[in-house]
Amino acid sequence: MDMQESAEKKERGGDSGNGRGMGSVLLGYLKSARVGVSIRGLRKSFGANHVLKGIDLEVSPGETVVILGKSGTGKSVLLRHIIGLEKPDAGMILIGGEDINDPDFKKGHVVSMVFQSSALFNSLTVEENVGLYLKEHKVFDDGKIRNLVSSALEIVGLEGKESIMPSMLSGGMKRRVATARALVMNPDLILFDEPTSGLDPMMTRTVGDLICDLKDKIEITQIVVTHDIDLAFYVADRLAILSEGRIIEYGTPEDIRCCKDYAVQEFITPQFEQPRR
Ligand SMILES: Nc1ncnc2c1ncn2[C@@H]1O[C@H](COP(=O)(O)OP(=O)(O)OP(=O)(O)O)[C@@H](O)[C@H]1O
Ligand SMILES: [Mg+2]
Repeated sequence: MDMQESAEKKERGGDSGNGRGMGSVLLGYLKSARVGVSIRGLRKSFGANHVLKGIDLEVSPGETVVILGKSGTGKSVLLRHIIGLEKPDAGMILIGGEDINDPDFKKGHVVSMVFQSSALFNSLTVEENVGLYLKEHKVFDDGKIRNLVSSALEIVGLEGKESIMPSMLSGGMKRRVATARALVMNPDLILFDEPTSGLDPMMTRTVGDLICDLKDKIEITQIVVTHDIDLAFYVADRLAILSEGRIIEYGTPEDIRCCKDYAVQEFITPQFEQPRR
């Protein structure tokens, strides 16, 4: 990228986060190393429960990939492998070309995740939850951390909620705090596990726009698991359909819409447009 492009990118990254003139501090700070992800022959069982039966998936640097699949098919298990919380029985995960389970692996990138459960620390305020990583890594002084945290909270529509305890938040608000926390880590790769569950349609759209901004302006590589088909097609460069432990289809939104496979069509066609069962 030449200086002109770089300046333009910074300029674009410095404008409004969500079309409402907010979050510019955070978007100006985010910078992605553009890492790709390669998953090869990934297998995982829990006892007799064979959850992942040989997953192959290529995510290009800066790409946003959405994973769709029925409940219990292993989407969260797959994301937990990518962030390194689970070890595979077989297969490999390469991030930025490096095998993350290689004993000599030296982490040269940041991966953050919005967990399905939000996974906030109940004894910490919203501000402490969001800023924890920056404090622990002593990246900036307290004033700058406070600024970044406030900006991240603005982006997810929670401006001014810094001092609230998680127990006082609704499920959808917790999910947005978890998103803010994942953002301030300045990730090269971000994993979203159901980022919009519990959100109203307007806030779902805000999160959809945020994911598009992260893609278009910062070029962060993103993997999004969602049951929201509208969101999936809104944000995805490519979609993967996970069924019975395997990726049964992987392609652009157009490819997936045109796919003749019954399992794919059953999944992506709005349920209330299908015949009553
Ligand atoms: N730590 C674990 N120990 C044992 N079994 C597990 C564990 N984690 C997940 N599983 C099992 O793996 C399977 C896949 O679970 P997972 O949470 O990945 O599903 P999912 O596709 O994310 O579903 P949902 O859409 O409901 O979130 C389930 O059968 C679950 O019971
Ligand atoms: Mg899940």
